[in-house]
Amino acid sequence: MEKMANSTAVRERAGGVVGAGSRRAASRNWQYQILSKLLRGDLGFYGEPSNYASHTLHAFAAKFPPQLPRIFIERLTKPGDIVLDPMVGSGTTMVEAVLLNRIGIGFDIDPLALKICRVKTTSAELGRLLEAGQRAHRRAAGYLEQTKLLERFFARFDSSTMDFLEYWFAPKTRLELAALVLAIEKEEAFVREFLEVLFFRFFRCQCILRAIHSNLL
Ligand SMILES: C[S@@+](CC[C@H](N)C(=O)[O-])C[C@H]1O[C@@H](n2cnc3c(N)ncnc32)[C@H](O)[C@@H]1O
Repeated sequence: MEKMANSTAVRERAGGVVGAGSRRAASRNWQYQILSKLLRGDLGFYGEPSNYASHTLHAFAAKFPPQLPRIFIERLTKPGDIVLDPMVGSGTTMVEAVLLNRIGIGFDIDPLALKICRVKTTSAELGRLLEAGQRAHRRAAGYLEQTKLLERFFARFDSSTMDFLEYWFAPKTRLELAALVLAIEKEEAFVREFLEVLFFRFFRCQCILRAIHSNLL
């Protein structure tokens, strides 16, 4: 928050003639005024698009509409400032921070959230990602011929994870998923994380579809 004391708006309000303590106080006052105005205003963004940049890469639970962090970042910070989100989830705030030329710092206890957030905030060439996806798909098709390899893959899971997989997926689907995971693991770091995020998205959809078919939802 100290960084805010250097913003142009604050310097103008402080008039350039006051000491550091007064500038900080003026800055805090200015921030409180903007914040309280924002919080009293309309923060409903129903109907506004959220399908831009990388926001829709993963349907993480309880995501912000992107307009929510955007309005706070725009009004309370300037380009180059740090935006901190201590429970970053899938990184909606971080994507907006990057789009607005701020430095995003995010924390989360969930490794999947951090993975999704990293992928969503890393720029990459679309052609390179498409090629990697096709390469992984071809490799996975090859692994499907190697029954022993796929059986060994399942040895990495404990019995409760195996129960979960056996409950949700038919034997053929389990083998296909194993082949895909092994194929993705062969890719280099960023591409692997990108394909993993797509895999988790697909995996989640499959669980939901299975639940619908079984009348579990
Ligand atoms: C509702 S989600 C945030 C979604 C995010 N705003 C978005 O748009 O994607 C809440 C996140 O807080 C994280 N979380 C909960 N308790 C936490 C803690 N003590 N420290 C760090 N992260 C935590 C969860 O793992 C989850 O990813």
